[in-house]
Amino acid sequence: MAQEVIKIKGGRLLNGKVDISGAKNSSVAIIPASLMSTGPVTLEGLPKISDVETLVSLLEDLNITTSLDGTTLSVDPTDIKNMVLPNHKVESLRASYYMMGAMLGRFKKCVIGLPGGCPLGPRPIDQHLKGFKALGAKVDETDGHTMKLEADKLIGANIYLDIVSVGATINIMLAASLAEGQTMIENAAKEPEVVDVANFLNSMGAKVSGAGTSSIKITGVERLHGSRHAIIPDRIEAGTYMCIAAASGERVVINNIIPKHVEPLTVKLKELGVGIEVGDDYMIVKSRNQYNSVDIKTLVYPGFATDLQQPITPLLFLADGPSFVTDTIYPERFKHVKELQNMNASIDSDRGTATIKPSTLKGADVYASDLRAGACLIVAGLIADGVTTIFNVRHIYRGYTDIVQTLKQLGAEIWTETMDA
Ligand code: EPU
Repeated sequence: MAQEVIKIKGGRLLNGKVDISGAKNSSVAIIPASLMSTGPVTLEGLPKISDVETLVSLLEDLNITTSLDGTTLSVDPTDIKNMVLPNHKVESLRASYYMMGAMLGRFKKCVIGLPGGCPLGPRPIDQHLKGFKALGAKVDETDGHTMKLEADKLIGANIYLDIVSVGATINIMLAASLAEGQTMIENAAKEPEVVDVANFLNSMGAKVSGAGTSSIKITGVERLHGSRHAIIPDRIEAGTYMCIAAASGERVVINNIIPKHVEPLTVKLKELGVGIEVGDDYMIVKSRNQYNSVDIKTLVYPGFATDLQQPITPLLFLADGPSFVTDTIYPERFKHVKELQNMNASIDSDRGTATIKPSTLKGADVYASDLRAGACLIVAGLIADGVTTIFNVRHIYRGYTDIVQTLKQLGAEIWTETMDA
């Protein structure tokens, strides 16, 4: 079957400016959350990615009127109907699980397929379900591919998460916003996207406090009203461009960035020896020919983000000695390793840790197994000798706005072609 591929001829120095989009992982929660409103909602600054399009189409399946104009989405849930959501769309992205919390809050009932998303190893949703059950919902997943959630009414509860989970924290916040009484989420995720979703809920009249700390209090309200909300900048897209610039940037200015949100990466890049100037809402990144070796361990925010361990990995081939990357969040998130080996890289992974040695990369045919593995292969392609062809680029388009065009404007030799797989 014919498919689009991305081709990169490595070795060009990049120069210019990049504007970072709104955060994917906020948008994919806030779009479902908009269905909880009784009035029109306007969302500004959405990324132009296929995950956004899929979620908008899921809202339309619920008879919600939507209009997506560039980066602005208007949602009018006045005529919303509770329907069974089609499995093939739900399966295409992980974040469709936010439809559960939103629909449970709004209708006290939701029938939905099981969420898909990037193959990063096991990705259970037991903590989401534990939260819904604590609020009074019955969960039935007996048929193996559909989840039925139902409650006579939702009643606030104290919920202690066994694992710090972004998705479970947000999903419980959604449902609890329309529950009776007070909910406390303890051991909550502190990621900036959690705070963005809480701010959006509050803009619709919800009462959420403590987001960004490990204890979140939600006082349920009877209904939520329409609002207007601007999505925060995408710290992972920003971080990916920081890695790209550190790999091959002569001088790259990254605009629309919240420096605090990318600080764990900034610190690591500085340890490597990357030239970084941090402004109020921008960064200037310059590459060097050789870096110091560093070790990286991914942790929950404000630790080093798992979503950036793959994009930073190609920089470690430019280091003066071996480096180690350990992913404690997704110990199986190493499918990029085999592809990098095909590019002549000295890299191995074992039990959640990759060992990376200095290498000269060579262009090859490689496969993006998931979104951030795709970003990693782009960084690798930019520093490799010769042409790299990346297959399975639909993963990359799920999370990066116009990435090929943006890199072309920075001076990269990058283009797309249609090829047989
Ligand atoms: N976990 C459980 N049970 C649960 C939920 C999570 O065991 O009920 C485990 C997971 O298997 C994982 C850890 O807890 O080991 C953390 O998972 P989390 O729930 O925080 O991840 P997520 O909400 O499913 C979001 C992002 C991911 C990002 C992770 C970690 C979205 C849509 N996805 O996933 O983003 O890697 O948080 O920060 O927000 C990406 O953007 O490429 C991406 C995969």
